Amino acid sequence: METPFQAEEFVDSQIEEIRARVGHEKAMIAVSGGVDSSTCAAIVHRAIGPNLKPALIDTGFMRLDEPEEVRRSLSKPPLRLPVKIVRAKEAFIKAFKGLENAEEKRKAFRETIYRILGESARKEGCRYLVQGTIAPDWIETKGGIKTQHNVLEQMGIKTLEKYGFTLIEPLASLYKDQVRQVARYLKVESEISERQPFPGPGLVVRCVGEIDLRKLRALKSATSIVERKLRDQGAQQYFAVILENRFIKSELARSVGELVADRLSLELREVNVRIFRDNATGVKGDERAYGRVAGIRLPAAVRKTLGESTPGLIELEGKVTSSFPEIVRALYLISERGRAARYSIVVRAVNTRDFMTANVTPLPWNVLGGLAENLLRSVRDLSSVYYDITPKPPATIEFE
Ligand code: XMP
Repeated sequence: METPFQAEEFVDSQIEEIRARVGHEKAMIAVSGGVDSSTCAAIVHRAIGPNLKPALIDTGFMRLDEPEEVRRSLSKPPLRLPVKIVRAKEAFIKAFKGLENAEEKRKAFRETIYRILGESARKEGCRYLVQGTIAPDWIETKGGIKTQHNVLEQMGIKTLEKYGFTLIEPLASLYKDQVRQVARYLKVESEISERQPFPGPGLVVRCVGEIDLRKLRALKSATSIVERKLRDQGAQQYFAVILENRFIKSELARSVGELVADRLSLELREVNVRIFRDNATGVKGDERAYGRVAGIRLPAAVRKTLGESTPGLIELEGKVTSSFPEIVRALYLISERGRAARYSIVVRAVNTRDFMTANVTPLPWNVLGGLAENLLRSVRDLSSVYYDITPKPPATIEFE
């Protein structure tokens, strides 16, 4: 039988290893306020004390006021980390100019953040860069599902030559639940140890397709509303995604409409399916899939009845993504405004144990309806709100 994971043993052995490796040199750590980087910082701080220099890169893609809040929370006891915020918004916006493809955006994010971290490490005299990469990050990146921003050496990237630092990844063998155990053992406050994950590239991967400031602003305001309203609904991860209301003209929309009408015994004219122009990331048969997103609009009365049954929605989604391999996600319209506007917001909420697979969180229809009304009232340029009804697989948790 496998011996259960022991947080205390893990921390002690890591401290010893880090001290032996770093000696009296300085190390920078890239923190984000998430459980992985905060736990990692807590361990390394115990190992090398003030020789650890924590840096938070303000990419412009964190949530509203997040950099300052993270600095405040990490500088308090028990962590007491002297976090320095490095302002770099312009560099990131510039790096994404003209990019629409998810992997190109991810690679541009990786390149920009490590160039900036390399410069910061050099200024602070740090030979090492510590980061909180965990097992699913490199497993999914090596498996070709998506390029997680914090996987370098495992992809053959020589950080010393390229960015000027040697990497240390104390958590690289752990899964999220083990990291949380370590965090609790280190008495990291529960606001951090139990926090829902937020991807390193942040809102980049939730701003589907090409990024501009108007779209990013709308997403930030939707993110605050969705996080506030879904906090107590039992999802392990829940957030907003923004898509532009640009659709492709193809037979696909009609064929999906026929399938949906058939399954739900509706007239074809009652079902309206739209295929978004921008693609999203998924995983089919353990392989990366980058494909179409279908938005399904049903008549109001049917929408509510089916919307109250998460298993019914999942079954419908299963039919759509298995019948049309080019589709990786099905979205279910919750509510819309009569007048067409530029954006749709998608509500994503999942339950998962290890983030390698995930189920859609069953959310009461009145909660979804209230949330959609709130979004339509508060977010500029918004005309539709959808609920993502796709598990992982065939979708991934994040859209890109
Ligand atoms: P996916 O979208 O691959 O996400 O199903 C699985 C988990 O990983 C998070 N995620 C990331 N975390 N850097 C990170 O630190 C990344 O590039 C990244 N991409 C996805 C995601 O939020 C989910 O918890």
